[in-house]
Amino acid sequence: MPEKMSPILSRAEIAQKVKGIAQQISKDYAEKDLCIIGVLNGVFVFLADLVRELTIAVQIDFVRLASYGSGTASSGTVRITKDIELDVTNRDVLIVEDIVDSGLTVAFLLKYLQRFHPKSVKVCAFIDKTERREVEVPIDYVGHVVEKKGFLVGYGLDFDQKYRQLPQLYHLKL
Ligand code: IMP
Ligand code: MG
Repeated sequence: MPEKMSPILSRAEIAQKVKGIAQQISKDYAEKDLCIIGVLNGVFVFLADLVRELTIAVQIDFVRLASYGSGTASSGTVRITKDIELDVTNRDVLIVEDIVDSGLTVAFLLKYLQRFHPKSVKVCAFIDKTERREVEVPIDYVGHVVEKKGFLVGYGLDFDQKYRQLPQLYHLKL
């Protein structure tokens, strides 16, 4: 672990939280037709763990979004760089995100998905980082809420495309 990182969640804590969310989703969608849309790239680690704890049948697809600008803050303009390929019309959709920060990505996706007329849309985020929220977005399933300022890495989350592979979640001192 580089010195500028401090641990936020251990592997065991992450596993416990993922299992809890998976149990709730499995219960809520037991009689439904669930279509999971993972938001690349950051979600790949969380999604892989989450879906393996589910006890229901699901279909899984991915969307990839880019927000203009770089650095550690979202710029506000979101565009799709890889579209969804599953037909979600009249389906129960669950957007799965690694982290919700400003809320702009989720807000964009919620609006975008409406054009396909899904039956329902809910949101699952492993981390709810509330400090910089700009738009109110409903988050139906949350693993961990972070209120303090800062940037998180590991468990799929990157800084400049680095640190995604770290199995724990860290706070990065910039
Ligand atoms: P938004 O600001 O809610 O639109 O989040 C946009 C994206 O920024 C998230 O999906 C993450 O990929 C990324 N992001 C936001 N906060 C962090 C962080 O603390 N660490 C790593 N990535 C982050
Ligand atoms: Mg992301």
